[in-house]
Amino acid sequence: MNWNSEIPLALSYDDVMLVPLRSAIRSRREVDTSTRFTRRLRLSVPLVSANMDTVTESSMSIAMARVGGLGIIHRFLTVEQQSREVARVKRAEALVIEDPHTVRADATFDEARRLMAEHGVSGLVVVDADRRLAGMLTSRDIGMVPDARLVSDAMTPRARLAVGRVDTGGEEALAIMREARVEKLPLVGDDDHLAGLVTMRDLLQHAERPEATTDERGRLAVGAAIGVRGDYLERARALVAAGADVLVLDIAHGHAEHAVQAVGAVREAIGDAVDIVAGNVATSDGARDLCLAGAAAVKVGVGPGSVCTTRIVAGVGVPQLSAVMACARECAAHDVPVIADGGIRYPGDVAKAIAAGAETVMIGGLLAGTPESPGDVVTREGRRVKVFRGMASAPAAEARAHAEDDEFVPTVPEGVETVVPLRDPSSEIVRNLVGGLRSGMSYSNAATIAQMHANATFVRITPAGLQESHPHALGR
Ligand code: XMP
Repeated sequence: MNWNSEIPLALSYDDVMLVPLRSAIRSRREVDTSTRFTRRLRLSVPLVSANMDTVTESSMSIAMARVGGLGIIHRFLTVEQQSREVARVKRAEALVIEDPHTVRADATFDEARRLMAEHGVSGLVVVDADRRLAGMLTSRDIGMVPDARLVSDAMTPRARLAVGRVDTGGEEALAIMREARVEKLPLVGDDDHLAGLVTMRDLLQHAERPEATTDERGRLAVGAAIGVRGDYLERARALVAAGADVLVLDIAHGHAEHAVQAVGAVREAIGDAVDIVAGNVATSDGARDLCLAGAAAVKVGVGPGSVCTTRIVAGVGVPQLSAVMACARECAAHDVPVIADGGIRYPGDVAKAIAAGAETVMIGGLLAGTPESPGDVVTREGRRVKVFRGMASAPAAEARAHAEDDEFVPTVPEGVETVVPLRDPSSEIVRNLVGGLRSGMSYSNAATIAQMHANATFVRITPAGLQESHPHALGR
């Protein structure tokens, strides 16, 4: 302790306001919210769902990627379970289904019907013993020939099928399907071997939603969290193999030396295929060390989260606005984006986080209780609610007591468990938050996130200013 030094002041979202600036923006629709999650992964909406076990598994990730954000699947699952969640997101949508469900021509009709119901699909590709294309069987065929006994009795045989080649592009596939008036197009490679399946629905969905976050194959993008101990390298490799587009090395004290070193170890384990995000830190020194270790984005936030008690229990943390500003300044020198993680209560907080230099914002509490968040709906005191808990809370720690060597099980809890009322779908929550951000950007004369970083201006406010900011006509 340096007894003579002055203690610096640190601020949070409630301590400041964005100043309205002379603005050339005529409409909020003119504002472009596209941004970088990592050095290589771009999003059209700067929002990411938190890697918490009551916030993000596959459903949330699918919903977030569809609206242009991203979900980070939490790591408090077995390696197999977490990989399966990643794979579910990757299978939810694709330009080409690379491993379509198949059936043999000599299978019984009942068997085909059972397979369709089991996989929830409306068509099966018929293949021979060598996986060569033999025909297609769709639910339409089933309706037409209800008394068929074998698949071959009802399928459209190979000779009458519209077929694409393995390298047929999206537009060409659409043209072939329209010409043939079919909704599914099998693709074949050499020797007529089945190479994939394209569906009209997937192609149209893709065209209708250009903002969705997808990989180069049109599959929705997804991130996955890992720790820094135990099986973390094996987990990292398995998640990348399952299709994760980014790994988030996430521990409470991301500036611990073993956390900084883990960035390099993970990079060595997975190669250069996907970016690694590291965190959490709250200081420029922490941000610098993670950048130098090879992080492709730095996650900032020690203690601002809605169910965190780190600041109360350990007395540690940095108010989030100052933490984001300090880290963003440092990360800019390394061309590494910052993720502002935790503490978002209002849409205006998103605008302030971005103005402070973050390129994306991570949301936990506001997305809990949505239909896409994990966990069952329960009734408490007559209200329908879902559980939401800090990852370092006692119940969360207990739930994974079997997991050995878990750094997130602290000696005393640093988080709490609560329940939240059932909320609107996450797409609505995101729409609301993005609406606030667009508005904040237009007041700040910012047509892009980069302009928001450059132009936005804060004033500090007093408790009287904060009180004035919230609605106060009620109850007069
Ligand atoms: P919000 O405010 O959006 O914050 O709910 C989500 C972030 O909170 C962090 N988190 C924790 N921090 N103890 C903590 O100190 C905990 O138990 C805990 N659980 C989650 C995490 O960074 C998350 O993204």
